[in-house]
Amino acid sequence: MSNETLELAFQKKIDDELKIEPKDWMPEKYRQTLIRQISQHAHSEIVGMLPEGNWITRAPSLRRKAVLLAKVQDEAGHGLYLYSAAETLGITRDQMLDQLHDGTAKYSSIFNYPTLSWADMGAIGWLVDGAAIMNQVPLCRCSYGPYSRAMIRVCKEESFHQRQGYEIMLTLAKGSAAQKKMAQDALNRFWWPSIMMFGPNDDASPNSKLSMAWKIKRFSNDDLRQKFIDVTVEQANILGLTIPDPDLKWNEERGHYDFGEINWDEFWNVVKGNGPCNRQRLEARKNAWEKGAWVREAALAHAQKKAAKQSVA
Ligand SMILES: [Fe+2]
Ligand SMILES: [Fe+2]
Repeated sequence: MSNETLELAFQKKIDDELKIEPKDWMPEKYRQTLIRQISQHAHSEIVGMLPEGNWITRAPSLRRKAVLLAKVQDEAGHGLYLYSAAETLGITRDQMLDQLHDGTAKYSSIFNYPTLSWADMGAIGWLVDGAAIMNQVPLCRCSYGPYSRAMIRVCKEESFHQRQGYEIMLTLAKGSAAQKKMAQDALNRFWWPSIMMFGPNDDASPNSKLSMAWKIKRFSNDDLRQKFIDVTVEQANILGLTIPDPDLKWNEERGHYDFGEINWDEFWNVVKGNGPCNRQRLEARKNAWEKGAWVREAALAHAQKKAAKQSVA
């Protein structure tokens, strides 16, 4: 079959809402786009464990500690499903981790911001996991089978993460004046980085069109950002907290909230590695990789021993 015929059959499958599976023919660019997206998503999950891991030992109660611990473990699990999904496209986990460690692969910029107070655990769950859900629910219908199936489970867990964060915010916002102030401060620091999580504006996002045609993406960055802002404003009102954007205003005509200018210089600066915690995060991941070398070697030796025994039998 010619490449053109293969490509037509491939696109027809996508148009018919059928899934592309690992052994199916696919254009090289589709494979590469998915490898980039899924591996960066996986990296975000495991780097995302770091800012929250920072607070496990300082959670204010046993219940809070148990919940946060469970949440951070979920993120490790998300990383593992996603690395496995990416491996079906012909890249190894070692290669992906090399790319993370040498800085050629990116992860979500939000995790390069520090977590300064307990309220940050609330703001992250509410806003960061909330933004992640907005992004990830449409990925459950992604055209690539292994990615879409991983996302179904991930999204169920993300909704628990969002609620645990919102509950922390609610408790603080209805608590003492000092607690409310702490919640407001966390919202002030995490609001803009959260809405940057949806990525550059549509006109500055050249790969989006192809990703939409291939049904990897279902909605544009700006559409998802707008949706997130519309639901989150209402949630902030219930908390009695103020979103740090003086231009935020309901637009009757559009049926959406208008919002202020995003500081894209800040966004690109963090993407390029100059955010407040980029170096610290990467150091922590590299350190964990090096310290875990003996575990990988032991697992490999065990697998080889088992295989050798089986072949003798
Ligand atoms: Fe996650
Ligand atoms: Fe999460």
